[in-house]
Amino acid sequence: MINKIKEHLKKLEVLNAFTAEEIEKIRIEYLGKKGVFKELMEDFKNLDNQLKPEMGKAINELKNLVQDKLDHLKSTLNTSGPKTASGIDLSRPAGETEPGSRHPVSLVRQEIIEIFSRIGFTVSEGPEIEDDWHNFSALNFPEEHPARDMQDTFFLDDDQKMALRTHTSSVQVRVMENSKPPIRTISPGRVFRNEAISARAHCIFHQVEGLYIDKDVSFADLKQTLLFFAREFFGEKTEIRLRPSYFPFTEPSAEMDIYWGLNSEADYRITKGTGWLEIMGCGMVDPNVLESNGIDPKIYSGYAFGMGIERIAMLKYQVKDLRMFFENDIRFLKQFQSSH
Ligand code: DAH
Repeated sequence: MINKIKEHLKKLEVLNAFTAEEIEKIRIEYLGKKGVFKELMEDFKNLDNQLKPEMGKAINELKNLVQDKLDHLKSTLNTSGPKTASGIDLSRPAGETEPGSRHPVSLVRQEIIEIFSRIGFTVSEGPEIEDDWHNFSALNFPEEHPARDMQDTFFLDDDQKMALRTHTSSVQVRVMENSKPPIRTISPGRVFRNEAISARAHCIFHQVEGLYIDKDVSFADLKQTLLFFAREFFGEKTEIRLRPSYFPFTEPSAEMDIYWGLNSEADYRITKGTGWLEIMGCGMVDPNVLESNGIDPKIYSGYAFGMGIERIAMLKYQVKDLRMFFENDIRFLKQFQSSH
């Protein structure tokens, strides 16, 4: 009898099955009414009592192994096709891997960089954690001036010396410190403001700053550069206008609008009934700023501008809620296909 059990053990080792039917056949062969165990139990009954404990144990062990084998075969069963002996199903269709897409903020930033690089602007960057000098003082924000409040700053220390930069204008200062005119650069980057989050405002957003300093730079140069940008980005028929404004670091200062039109109800809403949309702040670099940064305002003049990337992305892609840019919902993100 022990030989019979040993034979079954050997057989069990090489036993294999590829379908549910084959597994069921094995189950019946061993555990069925006329199966191997039924027969073994018959033999067992006729055994000498002395031998029964040892044989009983061997039969139980075999039974456990048979059960394990059946469980294992069931768990590797794959309904989609035939298997190789190693259990890998080579005919199974491969899972799809979806290609990612660029974030809309990255797409718009890239497009802005490309447009300005065509007219000779380089790209420069600065740190997101700034000191008071680079974010405010060197840009002609006087101490205690309400313009500092305008910026809703996240300060990092009690004496308000270090902060998360509130605008990319701080990079202007770093560029002026580190290079000599002619300077022609744009600075894209992340900025931070202590503002309540809503569909129109966020505490984190992105800006692109522009700076051009050389001899004889005039307001006409600024206007022509911005017109070029507006037409490249929004279409060749785009009209712009400049409205007087105030920034501590430019004099005179202006805001640039583009003519958006009044073709739909939404146009009335987003342009407040005027047809014009504000796109960016700009102006001639204030002589105080040049002087603070070691550039002689009697020899050099320049212009600067700054725009919010999310704001432009909202217009380009007709996104109504700014918060969507930060939620990273895959259903939102995969709608933006990159051509780059
Ligand atoms: N820094 C301004 C802001 O964050 C934007 C700006 C306005 C930048 C005028 C400029 C400028 O360079 O000339 O609101």
